[in-house]
Amino acid sequence: MPQLKKASRSGLHDWQLKKSLLKALYGVPYDKALITAAADGNVPDSRMSDFIDKCYDTFRRWQDGSRPTAPKSIQFWECIIHDYELDVTVRRAMSCPIENFIALFPQDKKLITAVGELTAENDKVLDSDAKAELLRQYGSTTGVTWAAAADEYIVHANTRTNVEGPLTGMQAGRIQVHQFYCWPETAKAWSALVDSDNYRMYIDCWLSLRALVESAHWKAAVSNGRYNAAVALGGGGSPDKDRVLANSLRSSSKQEGAQLSYVINDISDDMIRVSAKRFHRGEDELAQGVEITYLQRDFLLLDDEEYKRPSNWDSVIWAILGGTIGNVYERDFFRSISAPSRVGDLLIVGVDTIGDDTADAFEERMRTQYRCKELDELLLTPLDAPAGQRGAEDPLVEVSVIAGPGHNPYSNVPNSWTAVFSTPPLSGRDHIVLATSTRYVLDDFFGYARRFGWEHLGTTPAPSDSTFRQVLLRRVE
Ligand SMILES: C[S@@+](CC[C@H](N)C(=O)[O-])C[C@H]1O[C@@H](n2cnc3c(N)ncnc32)[C@H](O)[C@@H]1O
Repeated sequence: MPQLKKASRSGLHDWQLKKSLLKALYGVPYDKALITAAADGNVPDSRMSDFIDKCYDTFRRWQDGSRPTAPKSIQFWECIIHDYELDVTVRRAMSCPIENFIALFPQDKKLITAVGELTAENDKVLDSDAKAELLRQYGSTTGVTWAAAADEYIVHANTRTNVEGPLTGMQAGRIQVHQFYCWPETAKAWSALVDSDNYRMYIDCWLSLRALVESAHWKAAVSNGRYNAAVALGGGGSPDKDRVLANSLRSSSKQEGAQLSYVINDISDDMIRVSAKRFHRGEDELAQGVEITYLQRDFLLLDDEEYKRPSNWDSVIWAILGGTIGNVYERDFFRSISAPSRVGDLLIVGVDTIGDDTADAFEERMRTQYRCKELDELLLTPLDAPAGQRGAEDPLVEVSVIAGPGHNPYSNVPNSWTAVFSTPPLSGRDHIVLATSTRYVLDDFFGYARRFGWEHLGTTPAPSDSTFRQVLLRRVE
């Protein structure tokens, strides 16, 4: 293949293009997800957090033009070479042009789709001749995209559920989380936040989920081998976590030739597509006996007669991760999940906790923890929705807390505290609540879940010193 002409950039040779190709091959939406996917199975969990941070930093430096050869960056390439059994040295993988890099990979359907995506995403780097040449050589001109492929799999179970976007919430003065993400721009802003170096909660949740499925209490809980379905509730936008759960479903099943179901539920089809990008290209989980489907539905309305638990499900692992329970009324959640769950089902809840904070310390933490431009951008994105209210001067996000003794209007769990993110008063009207996030006292959370028939089996912290916990519950009545 002739050498392609590309917009010249310094730094690691064709890094932007190589990164696009690798993300498409691993089927991951974010830079950080690429690092975690490459590290998975190659880097021990105890070193994972450090590896992700250092590699992410290196990615940026590669982008900015330097060519660091620190051990972590070498290890990143070693992971890729190992996973794809590439016949190449690290030095060559880093320094060769994209056309030679592509040629190293197995020339299969996955590569064709990945090259299609690489060319679709890199207008600024590839001119039309270079695109045409790459597609002629390795790609397909049929224009099949992951988004189109994923749409085939989405089950729209919303005939009675009205999917509302953020505008509905804005008009009411408070955007609820089920409205927040139903807007393509918020799904994009969520990806940018997860991809930023500032959002530890995503990584803490992922690492604690990995630790959970290795824990003794998890292994004891699934030891009867009867779990043949898992459902990620509000599960859009976190394909790394789906991978952990789908794999643990597979390894816990003891039923010979069992058909295993993994359902990614979300009210937002835009968030579902972020995940679908991961799964309906790679086909790896499918090939290994877990069928992945997407259920677009309100998880607070699983108790209406329209939703039926599939009859071929034996025991089920339900999961609500990422602290999402802290964005809704817990009573609505537990009531809803009571209907499709059965005695013996498991429920994994990712929660952030109050920890040792005093009310003042909590307020300070909420003002500073995870505060970054990507989070503000995410929180403010709904104001750009049609007929939205973002003015020329971007309003700043205000943070207040409901902490200490007394009634918390945002939570049903005793003694929980809530951070409230809102706009300042906008164009002559009151402020708009953009999001709320509740943190728990664990014993009170367990007690509350018990009222709905869920017994606490164990709690797994993140390996870092974060306040995030993965709580495992089993339905006992
Ligand atoms: C903060 S995001 C994080 C979730 C992500 N799966 C994770 O674990 O990091 C919350 C997700 O929950 C979804 N969601 C919120 N309320 C929902 C509801 N009532 N029913 C279904 N999905 C909901 C949103 O659309 C969004 O994708």
